[in-house]
Amino acid sequence: MTHRLALLGATALSLLPFGAFAQPKELVLYCSVNEEWCRAQSEAFMRETGINVLMTRKSSGETYAQIKAEEGQPRGDVWWGGTGDPHLQAAQEDLTEAYESPVLAELQPWARAQAETSGFKTVGVYAGALGFGYNSTMVTENPPACWADLLDERYADDIQVANPNSSGTAYTMLATMVQLMGEDEAFAYLAKLHANINQYTKSGSAPIRAAATGESAIGIVFMHDAVAETVSGAPIVTVAPCEGTGYEVGSMSLIKGGPNPEAAKIWYDWALSPAAQEIGATAKSYQVPSNSSAATPPEAPKLADIKLIDYDFAKYGSSETRAALLARWDAEIGALPK
Ligand code: G6P
Repeated sequence: MTHRLALLGATALSLLPFGAFAQPKELVLYCSVNEEWCRAQSEAFMRETGINVLMTRKSSGETYAQIKAEEGQPRGDVWWGGTGDPHLQAAQEDLTEAYESPVLAELQPWARAQAETSGFKTVGVYAGALGFGYNSTMVTENPPACWADLLDERYADDIQVANPNSSGTAYTMLATMVQLMGEDEAFAYLAKLHANINQYTKSGSAPIRAAATGESAIGIVFMHDAVAETVSGAPIVTVAPCEGTGYEVGSMSLIKGGPNPEAAKIWYDWALSPAAQEIGATAKSYQVPSNSSAATPPEAPKLADIKLIDYDFAKYGSSETRAALLARWDAEIGALPK
C-alpha cells in the first residue's frame, strides 16, 4: 500500500511542471510603517525564507489609493502595516483576500476583532495611541497637556500634522476628534487649529521629525513615534492628551489576485509570529505587538495608562464614513488659506 502510494506520488509529481513545488522566489510588499522598520522586516524575511522582497514604503492612505487604482491588475502581494481604517475600507471594497491564519488564535483580542470585522480580510499586527510631542527647548513654559491647549495662539505656525488623505495617522486624529467632540465641533476645532499649523505633511510621522530638528515646535503623531525621537536623543516630550485619545490597530492584508499568493501567505503567518513582531523594537518602532507572546518593548507607551476612547473601527474604517470625512476635511480645512 505504502509502496503503491509512493509510486502514485512519483507519477503525479512527474506530470507537474518543473519547479511547481519549489519555494516561491519573490514577494511584492507594500509597507506602511516607518522606512527603517520596513527595511529591517523585509531583510529578516529574506534571510529566513530566501524569498526576495520587493518593498515600497508609502503612507496608509496612499497605499490604499494605490491598491484601489491597481484593482483588477494588482502588482502587490501583501500590504503590511499602517493604520487599520484604510485596511478595513480595502476589505469592504473587496480589494483584499480573506485568510484565516493558524496564528490568529495567538493574537490579542483587538487584533482578532479587526479580522472578524472584515470577514478575515485584514488583521491587527500592532497597536499604538495617538498624541503629540513637543520640543522642550522651544516650548519651555506651560507645555500643552490637552488637545484644547494646541489652539493657544502662542503656537501660531508651530504645529505640524499630516494630511488625512495620505496619512493614516492624520485620519486617526480626524476620526478621534469626531468621536471625542461630535462631527461639527471636531471640524470647528480643526479650523481653529489650522491657524497654528505650519504644514500638512504626507507621512504621519514626519511632524515629529520636524519637531526633533527644531523646524517646528509640536508634532501631532502616534505617541510611539514621539518616543522614538526621544530615544534617538532629541529633546522631545511625549503627551497623552488629557481629554482622552484614539488609537490605531496597525494592520496587514493580502492583496486580492496579487502575483505571488503563496509567498504572501508565508509572509502573513510569519509576520504574526512573536519573533517577527519583536523586530520592530530593533528599528525604533515601539508599538504594542499583536501576538500575545511577543515582548512589548519597554519604551512602548502603556496603553492601560492612557485615557483611550472606544474607537469605532467598523464605522471609521467603512468606505462611507472615511470618504465622507475626507471630503469634508478637503472642503473645510484643506481649502483654508494659509
Ligand atoms: C508610523 C507609525 C505607525 C503608523 C504609521 C502610519 O509609521 O509608527 O504606527 O501605522 O505611521 O503612517 P501614515 O504615514 O499613514 O500616517
